[in-house]
Amino acid sequence: MVKYSLVLTLILAILGYSSSSFISYSVNYADRFHPNQDLMTQILNITSFYNLQATNIQTCVGSVLYCGIRIVNQNFLTNFTSGPYEIVSLVGTISKGSLPHIHIALSDKYGSVIGGHLPSLEERQRYNQTDFSCPIYTTAEMILSENVNLVFQRPIDPQTTFDELQISYKNFTFVN
Ligand SMILES: *[C@@H]1O[C@H](CO)[C@@H](O)[C@H](O)[C@H]1NC(C)=O
Ligand SMILES: *[C@@H]1O[C@H](CO)[C@@H](O)[C@H](O)[C@H]1NC(C)=O
Ligand SMILES: *[C@@H]1O[C@H](CO)[C@@H](O)[C@H](O)[C@H]1NC(C)=O
Ligand SMILES: *[C@@H]1O[C@H](CO)[C@@H](O)[C@H](O)[C@H]1NC(C)=O
Repeated sequence: MVKYSLVLTLILAILGYSSSSFISYSVNYADRFHPNQDLMTQILNITSFYNLQATNIQTCVGSVLYCGIRIVNQNFLTNFTSGPYEIVSLVGTISKGSLPHIHIALSDKYGSVIGGHLPSLEERQRYNQTDFSCPIYTTAEMILSENVNLVFQRPIDPQTTFDELQISYKNFTFVN
């Protein structure tokens, strides 16, 4: 299995180097989150527990009680409190060191949808507020995918001035 993976990695790397995209294969981590657990905390618990380096959200379906979200182009967080909400979309990447970039869409009891950037734990603290969490209402069925031959990092991009995604191939060390 290990040998097979290494051969596959080499083939993918050779294919990948001939274009600008990075070609990967992935392993999934499936979990179920419980009432009152914080969505971001639980996602990052999985990535840090397994020391994941290049993760994407494969799917997530569930509900939350309320949610702190940063709306596009705003430098503050908004506490959406007219819950419970259905999680109708959760998309994102989580880089090495459990650095998340996640967007969420939530629908309310009228079927109206709100959404935006789901703040990291550091972003929440930056606003000195006690509770910008996003607690689970009934459940969240979570599948994370780890792109096992890649590493995601987030250096500052001078063009945007933000910490943008940088993808590289993992440097495997061959041992007997
Ligand atoms: C974090 O994840 C690990 C692995 O799934 C699990 O054993 C542990 O209970 C989790 N911790 C919390 C606080 O949920
Ligand atoms: C948060 O508190 C720190 C330390 O008291 C302060 O320096 C900072 O300006 C505060 N940030 C905001 C957004 O209020
Ligand atoms: C957000 O709303 C919830 C539920 O009403 C509340 O418990 C929490 O303290 C609020 N957070 C902030 C920062 O106002
Ligand atoms: C892998 O090695 C190359 C060449 O030394 C380097 O440019 C790249 O940053 C390394 N990748 C990681 C994830 O460390």
